[in-house]
Amino acid sequence: MQAGRPVNTGRQIQRMFAAIAPRYDLLNHLLSLNIDRHWRRCTARRLAPVLSRPGARALDICCGTADLSLELSRYAPVIGLDFCHPMLVRGGEKIARRRAAVVLAEGDALQLPFPDDRFDAVTIAFGLRNLESPQHGLREMYRILKSGGRAAILEFSRPIVPVFSRLFGLYFKHILPRVGALVSGVDGPYQYLHDSVQSFPEQQELARQMEDVGFVNVTYHNLTGGIAALHLGEKP
Ligand SMILES: C[S@@+](CC[C@H](N)C(=O)[O-])C[C@H]1O[C@@H](n2cnc3c(N)ncnc32)[C@H](O)[C@@H]1O
Repeated sequence: MQAGRPVNTGRQIQRMFAAIAPRYDLLNHLLSLNIDRHWRRCTARRLAPVLSRPGARALDICCGTADLSLELSRYAPVIGLDFCHPMLVRGGEKIARRRAAVVLAEGDALQLPFPDDRFDAVTIAFGLRNLESPQHGLREMYRILKSGGRAAILEFSRPIVPVFSRLFGLYFKHILPRVGALVSGVDGPYQYLHDSVQSFPEQQELARQMEDVGFVNVTYHNLTGGIAALHLGEKP
């Protein structure tokens, strides 16, 4: 049975990420043994065909410190959007260092400040789970995509190999929240990470929710045995 969805308002989520922003990248790479970099690279590669179209534009929602935006910018110019200023500040530093084609915008994923049918690709990495209404987030992603555009959702999911699943479950429940608290100096966010992943839809259910908002050709790919999953869909 799934745990109830952790109750968090947008404001609480914003504050939580502001508190861990200084150590966010370090903890991501440490706690995932750097595998998170590979997941984001995979995501960008899957979108390469649409991003290679002439004049293509990508929007990376909940971009945080811009790691996925930077990967996408290898293929096309990107707008990275997030509502947490301290996360964007860190992202902005990395973008400036690499002189990447990424513009950052402060805004709400539930009310995207863009007209309909605007982008060739839209991405969200480890963000959908944090939205007050993931369904509304999906509708916004669909709205701003051009017809023929692609959406990519990278999110923690359910490991599919039984023994591995158990071991990972123990790590995720008992070790990750403690290391997260120790390194970030903040209690709570990495416990929230565990709880929010438990209550997030499994691979097939998320695919179904994407279809419900209108996406077609929805597929998903388990990454690292299903620790994460990459869902892809098209706007017809
Ligand atoms: C776990 S981080 C993921 C950051 C980045 N995409 C990555 O791959 O590391 C989640 C991000 O979602 C942002 N976020 C959550 N709810 C949001 C909303 N309603 N609008 C904009 N950003 C939001 C948070 O501020 C945070 O930066």
